[in-house]
Amino acid sequence: WPDGTRLDGADLVIGGVPATQLAARFGTPCQVLDERTVRSRARAFLRALPDAEVVFADKSLPCPEVYRWMAAEGLSLDVSSAGEVALARAAGFPAWRIVLHGNVKTSEDLKAALEHGVSRIVVDSFDEIAQLGSLARHGQEVMIRVTPGVDAHTHAAIATGVEDQKFGFSLASGAALEEILRVVEQPSLRLAGLHCHIGSQVRHVASYEETVRRMVGLIASCGVRIEQLDRGGGFCAPYLPGESSFDLFGFSQRVLGVLHYECAVHRVPVPRLLVEPGRSIVANAGVTLYRVCAVKRGVTRTFVAVDGGMSDNPRPALYGAKYAVRLVGRGGKLRSATVVGRHCEAGDVLAEDVLLPSDVHSGDLLAVPVTGAYHHALASNYNQVCRPPVVAVRDGVARPIARRETEEDLLRRHV
Ligand code: LLP
Repeated sequence: WPDGTRLDGADLVIGGVPATQLAARFGTPCQVLDERTVRSRARAFLRALPDAEVVFADKSLPCPEVYRWMAAEGLSLDVSSAGEVALARAAGFPAWRIVLHGNVKTSEDLKAALEHGVSRIVVDSFDEIAQLGSLARHGQEVMIRVTPGVDAHTHAAIATGVEDQKFGFSLASGAALEEILRVVEQPSLRLAGLHCHIGSQVRHVASYEETVRRMVGLIASCGVRIEQLDRGGGFCAPYLPGESSFDLFGFSQRVLGVLHYECAVHRVPVPRLLVEPGRSIVANAGVTLYRVCAVKRGVTRTFVAVDGGMSDNPRPALYGAKYAVRLVGRGGKLRSATVVGRHCEAGDVLAEDVLLPSDVHSGDLLAVPVTGAYHHALASNYNQVCRPPVVAVRDGVARPIARRETEEDLLRRHV
């Protein structure tokens, strides 16, 4: 739950606003986002890594108001498409603190980044470097994405550091080294540093240590001064009670220790570290409110069907993600239930085997925590369901920072 969330009787108070009020005022489903929690997570990164550049991975929560919070806290921004560049610039995010990323960039993505003057572009293929080389002028700073060959021990769909997948230049095959030299040869580009991201929802600091060790080995072998080392994001967030948070200070001590030690061994200058957290800053700040539409008794299970589902949260279907669920507004004797969505797929299950009052019924309000990251971002219009709003709460004040989609929005695209 977001920091400071409390019970008021059976109501849940988030950012000083009762969930029952939020549901009544903004409707359901509704994604609630606690501003203070987001800001305090952003500050925790700055405190743990005072000499590093902390770059918010905006794909986790692409929302102009959130970018403004990040800018105010002193973070940079990692965007991955022309659309995200447009959103960031519309929010007034300074271009000199934006990094364009993305494992496949179209020429529109590259042109948008160049037009807005983003500070660095992370390149991910030989084709891209050739295209960027001809589009760019004035020594555009680039970083090279390297695949370090490290297993992040996470879900296969979000593991990006192992060899033989689509991300980055392989360190083992020598492609990374080749690419460094190719960038250095391009007169319109300037090599700013190296980048690697081994995956998301990564629990083990050891995977990060090994990554840094390998990256410094590459820096030592390339014979070119590398000023910045972007270690990517991936810091895990706890989703269920009992799961622990990512040990940020442990990370900072161990990873910086390895970085300095390896640089000393290889006699290379220590590059400035960049990190790109997304989930670990925003996940815990989000709570989604749903209204129960129907309760269906199966042979062995009770299905509690809500007014949202995989269109606002595809993560259980995509990654087998697990969530806790709480009934808001009243108590009762608890019994196991399966919370399902409204979409026409058997896989549209939000949470299996959660405890809800045995008399849960239509009209009840449910709250699902840890929905701040990759929810608004991954939401779709499946079954032409309108995407929910994002409502920011702080000190008892609630305001929508992304409004609920309407049927007019849906119709606008069609001929
Ligand atoms: N940097 C790069 C280059 C990335 O690709 C990502 C995430 C991040 C940073 C931020 O990672 P984070 O700190 O948020 O773990 N939709 C999936 C997650 C996909 C992550 C994609 N890349 C999910 O809902 O679990």
